[in-house]
Amino acid sequence: MAAARRLLGLALVFSVCLTPGLSVDRSNFKTCEQSSFCRRQRKLEPGSSQYRALLGSAKLTADKLEIQLINDKTQVSLLLEVFGLHGNMTRIKINELKPLKPRYEVPDVLVETPTPENLQVTGQDDNTLELFLGSHEHKLLVTGSPFRLDILAGRDLVLSVNSRGLLYFEQFRERKDTLSAKVSSAVGNMWHKVKTLFSSDSEKTDESTGSDDENQGEEEVAEEKETKKEEEDEPGMWDETFKTHTDSKPNGPSSVGLDFSLPGFEHVYGIPEHADNLRLRTTENTDPYRLYNLDVFQYELYNTMALYGSVPLLLAHNVQRTLGIFWFNAAETWVDISSNTAGKTLLGKMLQYMQGGDETPQTDVRWMSESGLIDVFILLGPSPGDVFKQYASLTGTQSLPPYFSLGYHQCRWNYNDEEDVRNVDAGFDEHNIPYDVIWLDIEHADGKRYFTWDPHKFPTPKNMLTGLKEKRRKMVAIVDPHIKIDSAYRIHSEIRSHNFYVKTKDGSDYEGWCWPGSAAYPDFTNPDMRAWWSSMFSYDQYEGSMDNLFVWNDMNEPSVFNGPEVTMHKDAVHWGGWEHREVHNLYGLYVHRATAEGLIHRSGGKERPFVLTRAFFAGSQRYGAVWTGDNAAEWEHLKISLPMCLSLALVGISFCGADVGGFFKNPETELLLRWYQAGAYQPFFRAHAHLDTPRREPWLHGEANTDLIREALQQRYALLPYWYTLFYNAHRDAEPVMRPLWVEFPSDVSSFATDDQYLLGSALLVHPVTESNARGVQIYFPGTGEVWYDVHTHQKYESPQRFYQPVTMSSIPVFQRGGSIIPRKDRPRRNSDCMQDDPFTLYVALNLQGEAQGELYLDDGHSFSYQQNEFLYRKFSYSHGKLTSSSLDLNGKFETPNWLERVVIIGATRPNSITLHQPGGSEVQLEFEYDAQTSVITVRKPGVNIASDFTMFVR
Ligand SMILES: *[C@@H]1O[C@H](CO)[C@@H](O)[C@H](O)[C@H]1NC(C)=O
Repeated sequence: MAAARRLLGLALVFSVCLTPGLSVDRSNFKTCEQSSFCRRQRKLEPGSSQYRALLGSAKLTADKLEIQLINDKTQVSLLLEVFGLHGNMTRIKINELKPLKPRYEVPDVLVETPTPENLQVTGQDDNTLELFLGSHEHKLLVTGSPFRLDILAGRDLVLSVNSRGLLYFEQFRERKDTLSAKVSSAVGNMWHKVKTLFSSDSEKTDESTGSDDENQGEEEVAEEKETKKEEEDEPGMWDETFKTHTDSKPNGPSSVGLDFSLPGFEHVYGIPEHADNLRLRTTENTDPYRLYNLDVFQYELYNTMALYGSVPLLLAHNVQRTLGIFWFNAAETWVDISSNTAGKTLLGKMLQYMQGGDETPQTDVRWMSESGLIDVFILLGPSPGDVFKQYASLTGTQSLPPYFSLGYHQCRWNYNDEEDVRNVDAGFDEHNIPYDVIWLDIEHADGKRYFTWDPHKFPTPKNMLTGLKEKRRKMVAIVDPHIKIDSAYRIHSEIRSHNFYVKTKDGSDYEGWCWPGSAAYPDFTNPDMRAWWSSMFSYDQYEGSMDNLFVWNDMNEPSVFNGPEVTMHKDAVHWGGWEHREVHNLYGLYVHRATAEGLIHRSGGKERPFVLTRAFFAGSQRYGAVWTGDNAAEWEHLKISLPMCLSLALVGISFCGADVGGFFKNPETELLLRWYQAGAYQPFFRAHAHLDTPRREPWLHGEANTDLIREALQQRYALLPYWYTLFYNAHRDAEPVMRPLWVEFPSDVSSFATDDQYLLGSALLVHPVTESNARGVQIYFPGTGEVWYDVHTHQKYESPQRFYQPVTMSSIPVFQRGGSIIPRKDRPRRNSDCMQDDPFTLYVALNLQGEAQGELYLDDGHSFSYQQNEFLYRKFSYSHGKLTSSSLDLNGKFETPNWLERVVIIGATRPNSITLHQPGGSEVQLEFEYDAQTSVITVRKPGVNIASDFTMFVR
């Protein structure tokens, strides 16, 4: 829910409320020009690298290469470390050789320290060093002057570092006037003490970068250090004012930047969150893409402004390979993208080609961060799946959600009281509409004191939750990280007594305005604080809570209504003495993590949590779901939900959705219907609405429309077994649930920029209707030699092909890929839990070879017992008229009453007989029907338990 600041009487609010129409107040947010480090860095033009690598200083140890870099203008020395990592990854770190104080290294995000592989020098001349990176697939060339790195796969140059000379590194320095110089060196000393006191449990800060080894390079540097030239201070280096806020910058400038060139790549993706197309644009004439978690009120579409979350992973793809650049930095970051083909028309490119112009297309990417280290992982693929696995080996995979959370969620700001909740819940039953979860926004708490209930509106939360539980439904209540300052509020007084709040630069508790009025912000970067927060979700601490109550974290960028850019001051101080500047993009991840751990903790470690977050960072996939924040009831917002969730899926966050219907404004009925239809095929499926909007529960739009919404929801529920299997594959193998076409068809160039349709898993192609008054949609069937079947009519289409599909209000264009088998549960019920024991139907869609394959994953749907092998992972395959079911993982054992009620074989010829054979049994004749019009066989009641092996002969 938004920072609609009108409650607070800030001037800003009135300007927003008085503005007709809908758009962000851009002046609240910095441009690159207004962000002094971005401005300074962008002034550095390509082609003038100031850095030289001192090849004589090269040191090769068991796991890394170290080389000193020197800036010929300032004589500042840096230390470059290169690691060849297991699984086609390379890590490049650049730090100051001898920093005045340590730089922040992002903790807690990497799931483990990546395994280094041996590097091996294979050649050397005066200006170049050549090495094998781990496996002998990849080679690294280090060039001395000007400094650059090149990575080769076989004979192909795949990526260059600093080839445009944009390496930028602002070393820590003393402030020039003596008084502040003294202060800052005192701060430096204190810093070291604080760091030792708090020495972290996670990745240790590496403070020993300047090694004691005597070697030539070091001596050379030591001498040069004496003659270090003074760099001129520029405005914004030691303090920076934006609107009414001044950032005090006690450490001075410390920004870092680096460029990467990608020869042969024209398509780059990732670096969410932005309200933009899937394929990233070039930023030569705009601001760079910005990564800085912000609560942006009424965000605008199709631009590079920052939004609620940040994942600094960029993917590049061409027909030969996919690769990733993971810029491991949690400070404010800007990303510039340029390309030598941008702006050229297709005709221009063709002419160039025909005239033998041999300029290889190339994309250049430049990262700029306000502080921290240069620490970057190059993920070398070569396939899209390899890149997903490589990234997951660093940051983890999507957590396996509880089954219910894949159902439909009904939310609004606000369901007013217990009676309102009861009535809405009953409305679903009255109208025969399935749903799993009803949500409560901030008004449910007592004066926005989270973990409490409004005593008048929600006097008996346990009765309410018990009522839902009897219908096998759940509730989600909001718990935000801003804490009302009120000494009578236990949560606040405990946090204060533990000294767990973020501090101002002067050492007092940091206070800001948010929903409750004056609020303070728990320091979630402190592990003790997180443990305490987690313990607050215990049933004896969170009064009125029960095991069917789950949580969402909103406003965790964090949102501070009266703070700079509606967030926390960068000079606020966190655990360990680190400035907010360093940890900003991590804050939301830590809130999400501590909350998810709280829900696990309350169950004694047995139950999977469900927590939704608005702010996120790399690794947030481990803690739950993400939504795209405060969108609006506009057609363009519906349309952009596809690329926004696809971009998140590419960076490991599969559990994504957008507010169905749009948060701000009131959707016309047609838009609401289309949004339900689209949302039914997106991973996180929740309707939500602003406080000021009229009610819009599914049955309030006339009977015919209620029927259409019910139909969309029933399609969602029928496919839950498939969704759950996809999430298991995401959890296990880092496969995105929702995927761009190019992930499945990596050499189908014409699909590389497609983002109005996508695949769910590898088997379903979805092209939702996102235009008003649509008469039809233009569908592209990707691949070659593939067939696709309309899931509603079983009409068959061959690919590649563009096809205009006429649509009516009931149409949701979805196609099953020939060659796939999809498990469904086709009996409509009131929620997912009620479907638990229902039988399955298998939809077998044959490819041109008459074959198909599919999977089904199944467990208890809520606990961690799958980790003790209590699950079923089945494989179905069809070829030569034979359907077999076998186990895909023999470790998995799970008893289930689920049986097979029907098998639908699509694209088949008429059989004479169908028989079922189980090991140890005899062949049983099965009844079937054949529809010659659609070439579909429907096999009735095979009746076998879904856990058992069988063979079905279709002769
Ligand atoms: C590493 O790359 C090679 C090809 O260069 C590929 O065959 C191999 O599968 C990749 N390994 C991983 C773990 O991605």
